[in-house]
Amino acid sequence: MRSAGSSEVVARLRAAGCVFAEDEARLLTAAAEETGVALESLVDQRVTGSPLEHLLGWAEFRGLRVAVFPGVFVPRQRTAFLVDRAVALIHARRGHPVVVDLCCGSGALGLAAATTAAAEGRPVTLAAADIDPVAVECARANLTPLGAPVYEGDLFEPLPEELRGCVDILLCNTPYVPSEMIARMPPEARDHEPRTALDGGPDGLDVFRRVAAEAAEWLSPGGHLLVECSEQQAPLALAVLAEHGLDGRVAESEELYATVVIGTRSR
Ligand SMILES: C[S@@+](CC[C@H](N)C(=O)[O-])C[C@H]1O[C@@H](n2cnc3c(N)ncnc32)[C@H](O)[C@@H]1O
Repeated sequence: MRSAGSSEVVARLRAAGCVFAEDEARLLTAAAEETGVALESLVDQRVTGSPLEHLLGWAEFRGLRVAVFPGVFVPRQRTAFLVDRAVALIHARRGHPVVVDLCCGSGALGLAAATTAAAEGRPVTLAAADIDPVAVECARANLTPLGAPVYEGDLFEPLPEELRGCVDILLCNTPYVPSEMIARMPPEARDHEPRTALDGGPDGLDVFRRVAAEAAEWLSPGGHLLVECSEQQAPLALAVLAEHGLDGRVAESEELYATVVIGTRSR
């Protein structure tokens, strides 16, 4: 394999079903040059199903380059909609909002929300947490430059006590794939992303239920929890929010095919 974007690389990627074979060939060639890893090895891994982002070591998310380590959930483009909603809610808060990215994975959501809000004149205090040590290490690579701590542990358990009742915006992209659907996911996700990042239990909302049960305690008065789910899950998710004393609403983007439920703690 010789030159950047060579027709041989493009042909192999295309034969393996990569829709944007030319773009991928260019990115993989640049990654080989930057990292010194043989292009042939990167292409071999790609055609046998490794996510492009794991091979590059980064994903593009809302115009930012986010580090994504192998074994960490690749941020999905649709989740930019959750960040858009969060930034709008940050603008509606007074003072210096506290933002927590729970189930943070790479930390892409917190990074994008905090970076956008700061660029728009609303700096925030950001913290993040995840149960997976590899995700925590990856999120630290992304969030340490912002001065944001990343904690390791089960949901709210590792967060410092002083955040209790003080979180203005709680971003939480919980795993929400129903267990029986995992086998039908593309191999890129099924074989290369951890099951803990995907599997939401029988109806996909197990982790969400646990988050909703504790959210009101951690939110500030008028603070918001934002969670992505499927369109079909939204009515049940709203009922769960109501059960835990949060005012729920649904926001949808047809363009990004994204659904976000927002639970607000009353003042
Ligand atoms: C769907 S991924 C979302 C990652 C990231 N927020 C994003 O959107 O790119 C779900 C994440 O939740 C984490 N997770 C699953 N169960 C958890 C738990 N009980 N406590 C903390 N994190 C958990 C997984 O490790 C994974 O990183």
